[in-house]
Amino acid sequence: MNTNAALYNDLTKVIVTREEIAKAVREMGQKITRDYAGKEPVMLCILKGASVFFTDLIREVDLPVTTEFMAISSYGGSTKSSGIVRIIKDLDRDISGKDVLIVEDIVDSGRTLAHLSEVLKTRRANSIEIVTLLDKPARRVVPLQVKYSCFDIPDAFVVGYGLDYDEKYRNLPDIGILSPRIYEGKE
Ligand code: IMP
Ligand code: MG
Repeated sequence: MNTNAALYNDLTKVIVTREEIAKAVREMGQKITRDYAGKEPVMLCILKGASVFFTDLIREVDLPVTTEFMAISSYGGSTKSSGIVRIIKDLDRDISGKDVLIVEDIVDSGRTLAHLSEVLKTRRANSIEIVTLLDKPARRVVPLQVKYSCFDIPDAFVVGYGLDYDEKYRNLPDIGILSPRIYEGKE
């Protein structure tokens, strides 16, 4: 078992365990399988944070999905969203007429996904829905319809299972609150 003791020391506590994640991902895959029956959705991974969730989720979807990857930047090394969204890596293929599922690690202010949804709408997808592992509803500053969410979490900065602080902690198998002593004085 991967215990990553040094990384766990930087957490104040674990808030979602690997077992809870596995169960939620399985159920989410089944829900998507039911909702998209007869379709061939494009599952779009938002790099890098959603990568761990994405690779688990697509294997729980029993449909002929295709995969796409986009990288957008909104954060830098800080723990607060800048509101500025920049496309760093775009889609490889045309999505016009396709049913697109944007797979994201966490919805915080909602700015990143609001902006990305607008961009993708101009590319004439047949439908666009959002699948997120985590949602911090208390932090929303722009309205956003999130159809699929695994866990609502409180307003705290979390890491693990793909989520990072300054590119670290993505390999933690559980999700935990990062101890403020790690980022205090660095914003
Ligand atoms: P939003 O644009 O404010 O919704 O920010 C969304 C992005 O901010 C996510 O894709 C994450 O990359 C990052 N983010 C927001 N909250 C956290 C957190 O608690 N831990 C790690 N990354 C976060
Ligand atoms: Mg992200």
